[in-house]
Amino acid sequence: MRTTITAVAKYLPERVLTNSDLEKMVNTSDEWILSRTGISERHIVSDGEATSDMCTRVAEQILEKRGISSKELDVIIVGTVTPDMLLPSTAALIQNQISATNAWGFDLSAACSGFLFALESGSKLVESGKYQKVLVMGADTMSSIIDYEDRETCILFGDGAGGVLLEPSSNDSGILDSLLYTDGGGGNFLKMPAGGSQHPASHDTVNKRLHYITQEGREVFRSAIRGMADATSELLKLNKLRIEDIRLFIPHQANKRIIDSCTERLGLTPEQVMINIEHCANTTGGTIPIALAEAVETNRISTGDYVVLAAFGAGYTWGSILIRWDNCT
Ligand code: UT7
Repeated sequence: MRTTITAVAKYLPERVLTNSDLEKMVNTSDEWILSRTGISERHIVSDGEATSDMCTRVAEQILEKRGISSKELDVIIVGTVTPDMLLPSTAALIQNQISATNAWGFDLSAACSGFLFALESGSKLVESGKYQKVLVMGADTMSSIIDYEDRETCILFGDGAGGVLLEPSSNDSGILDSLLYTDGGGGNFLKMPAGGSQHPASHDTVNKRLHYITQEGREVFRSAIRGMADATSELLKLNKLRIEDIRLFIPHQANKRIIDSCTERLGLTPEQVMINIEHCANTTGGTIPIALAEAVETNRISTGDYVVLAAFGAGYTWGSILIRWDNCT
């Protein structure tokens, strides 16, 4: 049995933080941010709005598009590193907010690869034959863990959520194959040091600003290009597909220069690549489902097309998923 995507949706908070807003907060410029990252603006949650709220908006749209009741959902999986709180899970909060009383669910932590890891997990649950409707979301409220005094990170991230509904496929389309990886040896290059069991929150951790993301940008940059390009070319080789067979490549949106180098390595044309980083920035778990939703909205994918998703993130975690696009709302 194969799993297919039958609905897709996204949510971006209303509030927008532009590069010129950031110019007033840190020593940076619109010109530097745009030329080095491809980002012009990012969406930021309003006061009191959290990851579960964004996901709930996504879930409601998906249920409406597919014309089903929340009671029909079997499982909810959320790829996020910014849950509303450590416990209960964001999936449980969403389950309650949408009254999906027959669904169980969990959060999955794989940073920028969170959506791909969640998609793989959800698709295997459907393939098992036991579950028919699995809601998979990728979402992050990055503004909750960003140091708005650190110009090397605050310019890169935004908030947002996206998701898909997975169901059994009735034809030969759907999620065809995947290659996913973890290398914990990359753990120090991109992390949020405190707030977990190693460094529980204390006055000291707050004073040392350890509840914010830190990264070695150049190292992450190089590894991201290699990771997404190598996983994608291996996946295509395994499935006997040529690069020109791909209708749309949807990479994680971390930096336009990463995407450009990656697509150059793969030999893709600009028409084959989905880029929306300019108005969304890096929403971590949200980037790929948000870009997928925008690709569908703008008719960049049709039934029968080969679509490749690729991600790279903290862990390190990375990978690529191959889809043959099906009828999807
Ligand atoms: O999803 C995974 C999450 N993280 C990433 O994907 C990060 C990947 N890395 C990157 O996107 C890039 O490495 C950055 C955008 C973080 C940095 O761009 P870069 O082209 O690698 O710049 P750099 O680190 O080589 O720094 C060049 C210069 C430095 O100044 P000096 O030492 O040459 O005087 C930085 O201090 O740019 C400076 N700089 C800035 N200048 C203005 C760094 N950030 C900024 C800034 N505005 N915001």
